[in-house]
Amino acid sequence: MKIAFFSSKRYDEKYFKAANQSQHELVFFETKLAERSVSLAEGATAVCVFVNDHVDRPTLEGLARLGVKYVALRCAGFNNVDLEAAENLGLKVVRVPAYSPHAVAEHTLALLLTLNRRIHRSYNRVREGNFALDGLVGFDLHGLTVGIIGTGKIGSIVASLFQGFGCQVICHDKFENESLILAGASYVDLETIFSQSDVISLHCPLMESTHHLIDAASISKMKKGVTIVNTSRGGLIDTAAVIGGLKNGHIGNLAIDVYEEEDSMFFEDQSALVMQDDVFARLLTFPNVLVTGHQAFFTDTALTQIASVTLQNLNDLAADGSCKNEVKAD
Ligand code: NAI
Repeated sequence: MKIAFFSSKRYDEKYFKAANQSQHELVFFETKLAERSVSLAEGATAVCVFVNDHVDRPTLEGLARLGVKYVALRCAGFNNVDLEAAENLGLKVVRVPAYSPHAVAEHTLALLLTLNRRIHRSYNRVREGNFALDGLVGFDLHGLTVGIIGTGKIGSIVASLFQGFGCQVICHDKFENESLILAGASYVDLETIFSQSDVISLHCPLMESTHHLIDAASISKMKKGVTIVNTSRGGLIDTAAVIGGLKNGHIGNLAIDVYEEEDSMFFEDQSALVMQDDVFARLLTFPNVLVTGHQAFFTDTALTQIASVTLQNLNDLAADGSCKNEVKAD
């Protein structure tokens, strides 16, 4: 099968070539998949896409016209794919539901610990011979209340890690995870998460109902000085509202690996360009904000798993038209 990769980076090529072992013809394009780049998929049976490719109806129609049969997401999230259009057009969509939930969970803690203990600032200071401690005061995690929104694969690991730090973990999800409860966590409503948590960590998917879950109204219900961590999807946070909360001190710290307008910036080297996004530029001016560019998944373990599961998904579809990792419209 010929598989056309979009938004492809050197590391995608490396891990997919290693997993493929010459079974399939792989072609790699750096450009994003969108209506205007569809023609690159000519002759391909499958396209392989990532989080910021635009797999909307016009793109899917273009793919269907070219005879493409499968859309393979090399990620877990699928909010960038119009599933209904794919189904109408007879295109099957598969994803990698879990490659390494530990990678994302561990990055969540890495962000929080870096931000809280001001390691991003002390790293630079020490390199310049500045060993002063002013401005580097952190707080103990032990004994704090941590609110986890979404206790699926990633959120439940994050909850356990916080339990390891001696935090009181409160969770919000439609489905309760028994092992977290047995380990001392409790499930509460969203209002309680907002009003009781010292740290709030987001791990639910981005859907219409969760878009801007963190907005001016929810921030106003939070404890003064709250720390918010988001390694899920940028659209969960109303960035302008969060900037307001940071300016008036209601939000004490913000650590994000995802940003609602990330698709025009992330995964590219834009260091020589003038930043066009004023909201993002404002975020970067806060000493108590830490941003990484959607790298929570980025470990050797995860990349190996992503490549092998994606190719297996396509092999399964080619074998009998079905795959356990297929995503369908509700
Ligand atoms: P999952 O599907 O295992 O868990 C999501 C959980 O959220 C489920 O338990 C679900 O019931 C719950 N949920 C749904 N709506 C909710 C709501 N309104 N309030 C509270 N909980 C709700 O997903 P997984 O693998 O844990 O991933 C979580 C998110 O992490 C994904 O949506 C994805 O967007 C993001 N992600 C980010 C990565 C990164 O590199 N930064 C990498 C991989 C995933």
